[in-house]
Amino acid sequence: MGTTSGLNSIARNGFSPDFAIGTSFHVSNCAALSKHPRTEVRATCSARLFRLNFHVMAAIRQLLHKSGQAVLKAFAIAIRARDWYSRQRPEGRLLGKHRSQFYSAVWREAAAEVGANVELLHDDVFEIRLGQALTRTRQTATAADDPVTLDVAANKPLVYRLLSKRGLRIPNYCEFTLGSIGQAIAYTKQFAGEWVVKPANGAAGRGATTGVVTAFDLVRAAIAAAAYDSNLLVEQQAQGDVYRLLYLNGKLLDAVQRSSPSVLADGRSSIRKLIQLENQARLESGPLGGQTLIRRDLDLHRTLAKQGLSLCSVPKRGTVVTLKTVINENSAADNVSATGKLCHSIIEDGAAAADAIGVRLAGVDVITRDPRVPLAQSGGIILEVNTTPGYHYHYHRRDRGIAVAIPILSSLLLQATEKLGSSGEPGGAKPPDAVIYRATP
Ligand SMILES: Nc1ncnc2c1ncn2[C@@H]1O[C@H](COP(=O)(O)OP(=O)(O)O)[C@@H](O)[C@H]1O
Ligand SMILES: [Mg+2]
Repeated sequence: MGTTSGLNSIARNGFSPDFAIGTSFHVSNCAALSKHPRTEVRATCSARLFRLNFHVMAAIRQLLHKSGQAVLKAFAIAIRARDWYSRQRPEGRLLGKHRSQFYSAVWREAAAEVGANVELLHDDVFEIRLGQALTRTRQTATAADDPVTLDVAANKPLVYRLLSKRGLRIPNYCEFTLGSIGQAIAYTKQFAGEWVVKPANGAAGRGATTGVVTAFDLVRAAIAAAAYDSNLLVEQQAQGDVYRLLYLNGKLLDAVQRSSPSVLADGRSSIRKLIQLENQARLESGPLGGQTLIRRDLDLHRTLAKQGLSLCSVPKRGTVVTLKTVINENSAADNVSATGKLCHSIIEDGAAAADAIGVRLAGVDVITRDPRVPLAQSGGIILEVNTTPGYHYHYHRRDRGIAVAIPILSSLLLQATEKLGSSGEPGGAKPPDAVIYRATP
């Protein structure tokens, strides 16, 4: 490339490191333009200087670019380390114990209901037998779905692609990494409104931040998300409530409306203190109430900031303070049965979503402003198809819970019986005829 075309190219493309590295300037061309030998030498020197300068600048830019990324990654690692540390603390271990006790009671009760024998094999692993039919559970892990299906469902961008192929409503989204954050920023400029940044393969709301508006917000949120996965998503924030629809073999077992975690102000305590008290109360309430604690993360700070609050604020007595927009850390009191509220169209969409991913036991999350009308009418979306979904919000909530493990176990035993039959082994146990379905007080 000659000098002139090189300079034109700079003008067109801007001074980008990529461009700089791929371009070489032929000083001889430049020198040939001047007639006087002195001028020629000067031209040659200045061209060399220019070339040197150009490459040095490019190298510095690249270095900054790379070290900038390294700094972002270092922040992400620090967040991950803090998260790991908090799980090793006594509260984290107590939560684990509560979860373990809850699922132990759930599977034992379900086994008793279907007339099966249950044996604890190891830690949380139960072996449940009915005649020759045998199945194993470990908390929410069951034989309902195969490992590939679990992998597919955990990959949010892949799930969105499969849902979109079915014509189901999903948010506008863009996949990116810390290295390609510029693309995500450019993408968000195309649409107005708020964004959510989260890990592409995340769970339990970890690393998800709502209310992202500016490029600075996006960078901060991306760091928080990168603590859990290097692949990230930025997607349009849907308005409305989150509904969890639990499907078993395409049939709706239960639906729960899940609201944001909140605390009730006492007029004396700061929000930081109120969170501390709430977490303490959850831990003290045992397996029924204490499965998650409210963690202080970016979504908490952003949700408070939107209300003009911070952790140090002392709201007026009786104020209900919404702590997070990400609902995962809500409490039993924030969940309420929603089966009767959902229109047929949403129930069908949820079943189609579970089918599109191939999940037999699916917790489909829907966000809508109005559950009584189709998603297209309310602007709602299908957010997620969860495998190994949690059971606690089906059992313990503001109103009567449902013992969903009973139909789930019935189905697992039926699946085991069918396997025995197909392998030609005689004498498979008679599966339970009907799904036993009972509300717990
Ligand atoms: N696009 C979105 N619009 C509104 N809220 C969202 C959106 N994405 C995530 N959220 C909020 O964040 C929570 C966690 O996001 P989700 O995609 O379910 O990730 P996870 O697998 O960690 O549960 C959701 O339950 C919801 O409260
Ligand atoms: Mg979720």
